[in-house]
Amino acid sequence: MLARFFTRLIDAQGVWARPLGDFTQRILSTIFGPLRPVKDFLNGRWLGHPLHAALSDLPIGIYTLVIVFDLLGQREAAGIALFLGILAHAAAAVAGFADYTDTSGRPRMVATVHSTLMSVAIVIYIASLVMRSNTGDQTVPIVLSFVGYGLVTAGAYVGGEVVYALGNMVNRHAWRFMGAGKWQALDVTEIPEGVPVKAKAGAQALVLVRQGAIIHALHDTCAHAGGPLSEGTIVDGCIECPWHGSRFELATGYRKRSPTTYDQPRFEVRATESGGWEARRVTGGSAGTGEH
Ligand code: FES
Repeated sequence: MLARFFTRLIDAQGVWARPLGDFTQRILSTIFGPLRPVKDFLNGRWLGHPLHAALSDLPIGIYTLVIVFDLLGQREAAGIALFLGILAHAAAAVAGFADYTDTSGRPRMVATVHSTLMSVAIVIYIASLVMRSNTGDQTVPIVLSFVGYGLVTAGAYVGGEVVYALGNMVNRHAWRFMGAGKWQALDVTEIPEGVPVKAKAGAQALVLVRQGAIIHALHDTCAHAGGPLSEGTIVDGCIECPWHGSRFELATGYRKRSPTTYDQPRFEVRATESGGWEARRVTGGSAGTGEH
């Protein structure tokens, strides 16, 4: 009941959050476009996990300490914690904006509500920090810290919606494979050299790329947000997703460029006696393991 109320409340923000989100996304794309290695770092490809999710706990924990110190009358400790909280908050925000760049539709709208709440909160916290430098009455800056904490809590709830309800930055193959694959016939008769070809192996859609005698096979659904890799391009031994530009190494499925922070499920392919091909999932391999 409460969750439905919050969902309706968030959806009602679409009036302003959609246009603001579209505008912000265009700005961020312009900024991150020429800074691909920086975005790659901020997305967390190197970590095998979205960096924003890892960083976002830090300011919440530190802001909680600010409240505790304020309630205990530890003004100096509260001020130091607040300063550190703001730094952590800014770091989490920068990483979050890298993820935000690749959102669309409802996830972008809800992420805009999330980022707006967090942005207002950090401004309030900065105001609180500045006011604490005065030696006078500390009531207002302390009250501001409480207001900021309320906004951060609300923002964290909305951010949780973006991930847990809308699946943003979640591995699209998290539940797809639970065991060893078995050989399954591919529904293609021709695999031309160096051209991505979509094929079905049972219920799974694959992208096949022939390089000489080797046929590489990855799952066709991009681990980042479900883009069709078979409509992508081959770049430096990788296939590049047509939606947001993630790259996966053809030979291994390893992620080579963000926004994906997960590897792509890989298959092996062999010829059949009847002249066709069959494929099976390579187990113990790459998907989501972060092994590089
Ligand atoms: S769906 Fe986003 S990079 Fe593939």
